[in-house]
Amino acid sequence: MNQLLQGKRGIIFGALDDKSIAWKVAEKTVEHGANIVLTNAPMAFRFGQIEELAKQLDVPAIPADATSEEQLEELVDKAMEHLGGPIDFVLHSIGMSLNVRKKREYTDLRYDWMQKTFDISAISFHKVMQSLWKKDAMNDWGSILALTYIAAQRVFPSYSEMAESKALLESFARSFGYHFGDKKNVRVNTISQSPTYTTAGSGVDGFDDFYNYADEMSPLGNATADDCANYCVLMFSDLSRMVTMQNLFHDGGYSFMGINPQLKK
Ligand code: NAI
Repeated sequence: MNQLLQGKRGIIFGALDDKSIAWKVAEKTVEHGANIVLTNAPMAFRFGQIEELAKQLDVPAIPADATSEEQLEELVDKAMEHLGGPIDFVLHSIGMSLNVRKKREYTDLRYDWMQKTFDISAISFHKVMQSLWKKDAMNDWGSILALTYIAAQRVFPSYSEMAESKALLESFARSFGYHFGDKKNVRVNTISQSPTYTTAGSGVDGFDDFYNYADEMSPLGNATADDCANYCVLMFSDLSRMVTMQNLFHDGGYSFMGINPQLKK
């Protein structure tokens, strides 16, 4: 096995259970020689299986609500202390919509819930990066990634306010990518992943249709969570040093299809 991340230090947000994309990313980064710290919201420690993953990989799991600046700054301190130095890579794999969860129509959204959704799913990415910035916690030529979905560019009605969350998330990657690049040669990108059966994914109404349509439309079919983890490893490795401020489609070609003649059959 190649050790693309040998000696690198990372923080992985968002492993809830073994279906989570972050779970697969955590496993793959460790396989590739990285030292990591896992983190998730305190609630996820009660209802999820993150502590099992921490045991399996023999790494610490530190609770932090990604909407809390204070908890994020503490997390960054603890991660650097545990890992023994500044951070080389960070995965933001966090998403949740209150209006989707409570099945509000897009034409009848509650704005207090929308603000909370944006805070959890998008502004948290800015908060993570600002905490790393303030603590000067990133190593030169480090790599920061967040996961996103093509509903930021195209209309998927049942994705609702998560579409705007993802548009905001992708914009934060570009804007903070400038500052981090300029200051420390750190790159910031988003990976736009195929529909994937996870707790967050399956929470969207009509998820089977999203999944099946994308799978049939894409010449390569849908990318799995394992495929996504491989792509994250590449993006954390030194093989992708000059890629920054991009939204990278990881979807078997779906994003650039017009029609697929196979669909008629
Ligand atoms: P998941 O449900 O396993 O992961 C979502 C994570 O967000 C959970 O671990 C949850 O505990 C965490 N989270 C929620 N609120 C938080 C808070 N306040 N602080 C810290 N963490 C919090 O689902 P999945 O699919 O692995 O989601 C990961 C990312 O991938 C999300 O950004 C999602 O939007 C994105 N994505 C998922 C796709 C899918 O079809 N599953 C497709 C494209 C992108």
